[in-house]
Amino acid sequence: MKILIINGPNINMLGIREPDVYGKQDYAALVEFISKTAEEENVEAEFFQSNHEGAIVDSIQQAYGVFDGIIINPAAYTHTSIAILDALKAVAIPAVEVHLSDVSKRESFRQVSYAGIACVKTYMGLGFEGYRQALLFLKDYLKNC
Ligand code: DQA
Repeated sequence: MKILIINGPNINMLGIREPDVYGKQDYAALVEFISKTAEEENVEAEFFQSNHEGAIVDSIQQAYGVFDGIIINPAAYTHTSIAILDALKAVAIPAVEVHLSDVSKRESFRQVSYAGIACVKTYMGLGFEGYRQALLFLKDYLKNC
């Protein structure tokens, strides 16, 4: 089972950016945390992070026929990108949305998630743990597909 973990803009700034909101651990620690879970669960995990919307669209398109599932935190593009929504719909790879913070309790402009429309589940407000939950959920979901 191969899962692609996509992180959007400013997720590479974890540890530096708004630690009260996103925590003190950096992106490398996030990759290590998810990799450990993937190893334990016998799941092959690949990581992609970009600050560019088109690059994220490209990575979703390139996942077609290669990956069984996608975990995606589109970051700010969550709330703006119909292109990412369309790419997820185009490849139709089961996807789970993750947000480190609880966007439902934040600003009104964060209350819409375009990518979420194409996702089978969303985890938010759990920090790194949300990615672990997403991986476990996706593994189970894909077994029953
Ligand atoms: C985020 C929430 C988004 O609203 C924000 O733009 C991000 C990170 C999160 O993980 O909580 O960059 O996706």
